[in-house]
Amino acid sequence: MQPPADAIERAAQLSDALHAHGHRYYVLDAPTVPDAEYDRLFSALQALERAYPSLKTADSPTQRVGASPLTSFAQVTHQVPMLSIRTETDTSAEGAKAFDLRIRKELDIPPDAPPVDYAVELKFDGLAMSLRYEEGVLVCAATRGDGAVGEDVTANIRTVGQVPLRLPPGAPSVLEVRGEIYMARPDFERLNERQLQAGQKLFANPRNAAAGTVRQLDSGIASSRPLRFFAYSLALMQGRDVPPPARTHYDSLERLRGWGFPVCAWTRVVSGADGLVHFHNDVNAARDTLGFDIDGVVYKVNALDLQRQLGFVSREPRWAVAHKYPAQEALTTVEGIDIQVGRTGKLTPVAKLSPVFVGGVTVTNATLHNEDEARRKDVRVGDTVVVRRAGDVIPEIVSIVPERRPPGAEAFLMPRQCPVCHSVALRFEDEADYRCTGGLVCGAQRKEAITHFASRKAMDIEGLGDKLVELLVDTNRVKDLSDLYRLRAEDLARLPRMAEKSAQNVIHALEASKQAQLPRFLFGLGIRHVGEATAKALVRHFGGLDAIMDAPEEALLAVDDVGPVVALSLRTFFDQPSQRDMVRQLRELGLHWQESEPQASRESLALNGLTLVLTGTLPTLSRDEAKALLEAQGAKVAGSVSKKTSYVVAGAEAGSKLEKAQALGVAVLDEAGLMALLAGNP
Ligand code: IVH
Repeated sequence: MQPPADAIERAAQLSDALHAHGHRYYVLDAPTVPDAEYDRLFSALQALERAYPSLKTADSPTQRVGASPLTSFAQVTHQVPMLSIRTETDTSAEGAKAFDLRIRKELDIPPDAPPVDYAVELKFDGLAMSLRYEEGVLVCAATRGDGAVGEDVTANIRTVGQVPLRLPPGAPSVLEVRGEIYMARPDFERLNERQLQAGQKLFANPRNAAAGTVRQLDSGIASSRPLRFFAYSLALMQGRDVPPPARTHYDSLERLRGWGFPVCAWTRVVSGADGLVHFHNDVNAARDTLGFDIDGVVYKVNALDLQRQLGFVSREPRWAVAHKYPAQEALTTVEGIDIQVGRTGKLTPVAKLSPVFVGGVTVTNATLHNEDEARRKDVRVGDTVVVRRAGDVIPEIVSIVPERRPPGAEAFLMPRQCPVCHSVALRFEDEADYRCTGGLVCGAQRKEAITHFASRKAMDIEGLGDKLVELLVDTNRVKDLSDLYRLRAEDLARLPRMAEKSAQNVIHALEASKQAQLPRFLFGLGIRHVGEATAKALVRHFGGLDAIMDAPEEALLAVDDVGPVVALSLRTFFDQPSQRDMVRQLRELGLHWQESEPQASRESLALNGLTLVLTGTLPTLSRDEAKALLEAQGAKVAGSVSKKTSYVVAGAEAGSKLEKAQALGVAVLDEAGLMALLAGNP
């Protein structure tokens, strides 16, 4: 049925509006209407086209959603062959100079003549596409193929928002534009996420994803995968409205931009070899922030008359060159998986690789981070792996090549022992890392552990800071904690930057520390999850060190503040002969402390059974301090007042809690009253 005139007009209006919004959204990245408005116009046009199918033209915005599947692609002979570019093999800055020299030589430009102008662009890592427009409408999108004959992938390319389906009035009646179809990194990652969830195969990289999408026979699938486009050359203009020829390549790109094609913002004109080198460096520095992959930059002689003069060698123009960067990914094999122990005892699996040159350096190691990461990547000794090193980033293993796995390769298992000191390695619930429990007995943790032992809240050994510890360990004067107490002032005075006086002071401080406080000593051992408060609670509960060292887990659990994690940590620590031996040696060297009667539990504490509520601001104690004092004597501190509350401690600006206490007849104390209670005379 022939559509009525108003339907034709309405469809044209909708189509114009959608083209304009689409250009602003996809190409300029500056939409002027909300997505919902675009969707509304789009549905309206779809409805009209359903009612009057003859309105559905090839350049209708509705065609971006994909057409019916094809059985094969038609072949397209390119009217202008699609060339390739020579690649400069020297990936250093010198490569750019070599190109400039060649150009000057070919053009017979004397050394003292002004520099040549170059249009410089990114070398997009996608696939080349030729777009043909007739009478302002996209009629064919073709792959490069062998350069002479490609494949007709128009249905798929129509789904790409950045490819204009229609040109503005005034564009030449026949136009061929060349450029790159690619997939942006974030889009690629989202696509792979979707593939994973749908149980479908993952794409190795954005280039493969783009190529796979362009070669989809079902353009419905293509429309669901976010491709993008950059124009990089104007191949042909014919027929009506052909403008006077541009003088430079850059001008021709500006024209393309004017007709609605996306031209990459990095495209610019530079002068001579220096300009090329600068551009190569600038792009290298920005490479990881581009949001899409490139595999180098492209230099093109800007003046079109010079391009004609330079001409071609076989299928490559003499006036252009691709200047790459050192590859960021390479294949190598895993020779072993080592475990590194950090200063704080963290165990990190590190893959030892056959040396491979990638990202400009030779890589021999790649971290596997932790057990979960290593399992997720399932890297095994003997595996062939893809290693990536981008910019200054630490090299990492991207993936393994499953088909190259040698038979019998065993899954990686995190060791349960520290490779340095053979102490037990533990991974606590909710933590990602295994940690060596050796602490002071572990060579890898020696410096960190001794510094902690000497620190103010632990043994408080003045003058024994991290610099001195570093020096003592590095010069092999201190191999373990007991060596500290064997130091003589003469040994110290011989160290660089150590005055005799300060050497003496350190020896005195060490001597003084032998008269220790048990909670500080226990905290100083650096047992994971045993902080100051827990150390105090343990000492209060057990009275002496031997009782703590020998307490079974159930007994440890009876201590306030000690849960299963702390109990496991303590038990593991003191079950190791090396730790017990260290304690024995320290005692032999004269370390001692006062021990007390065990206070088996809360029941024996003075304020056991009392519940207090704190409110308002006390004159000298903070709320945390008051709470700690009360809890240390077995009292409970609650948040709200009830009949069961023993006392309300009220400070300045006490509000409703004080009122409630008064209403219920609960006793009220001020700070002085609280102190009296704590001192045992309420
Ligand atoms: S110009 C006469 N410019 O590189 C030169 N090509 O071998 C024709 N490519 O697969 C190509 N970025 O798709 C040109 N800014 C750029 C490019 C670029 C990527 C690709 C192109 C083709 C290969 C050329």
